[in-house]
Amino acid sequence: MNVQTFFTTLWQDYLAIAPQASAIRQLFLQTDAEVINDHVAFRTFAECPLDLAALQPVVLGMGYKVQDDYQFNEKKVCARSYIHPDPKVPKIFLSELERHKLSSTAQAILARYCAQIEVAQLTPAIFWSGRHWDMPSLQDYQALLAESEYAAWLVTIGLRVNHFTVSINHLTSSQDIHALLQRVEDAGFTINSSGGRVKGSPECLLEQGSTMAERMEVTFAGGEKHSVPTCFYEFAKRYPDASGELYQGFVSANADKIFESTAAM
Ligand code: NI
Repeated sequence: MNVQTFFTTLWQDYLAIAPQASAIRQLFLQTDAEVINDHVAFRTFAECPLDLAALQPVVLGMGYKVQDDYQFNEKKVCARSYIHPDPKVPKIFLSELERHKLSSTAQAILARYCAQIEVAQLTPAIFWSGRHWDMPSLQDYQALLAESEYAAWLVTIGLRVNHFTVSINHLTSSQDIHALLQRVEDAGFTINSSGGRVKGSPECLLEQGSTMAERMEVTFAGGEKHSVPTCFYEFAKRYPDASGELYQGFVSANADKIFESTAAM
């Protein structure tokens, strides 16, 4: 699968559970000829047939190179980013939940779901394959949610894109992330204010902001219906580094707060 087909299909899968992204993209298309995405992000479980090590060859197979590694101690998550030689192709940010760092209760719950994963062959379509385990019970979901919002999100949604990210640098209408977030909010979308609306600064070479994730009603294993967070849309503004090139990396302190875009409001 070529990388263009990958992103076209991934975008459709994203819109299926986060239709706000289509409306926000349309908002920018009123003033900008094109909307380029800076990166996309995925979440998965460590130490399972869909962990970061298993997914990496699929990413590399689409022409990406490993960029950098990140650690989020409080969230018990580690991550790796990948960059493509074509600067208009979004970077990929893969994170995984370090299950062994959770409580024994949460580990036991997740072990039951991860044991159901059976993957014969990994292809790019794995990134919109969803859950590889039964829908969780509400009891398991709530136990996970009390400890790890990431775990609760992943056990209900599975392997699907968590967010796309508009590259502010490629917009012609505005280069000011504060004004851009206001524009998105004025259009009716909730902005993630955890750690402040704008994460990062020109000094750390990356500013980021995001909407709060949409919610979708799901039916838990016992038949209970509840709404759960799905996906959000992010916005990133990059600054030139000492060499004069736009910084392309990620800043852990920013990403730590962006993760909270799928928290309950
Ligand atoms: Ni992001």
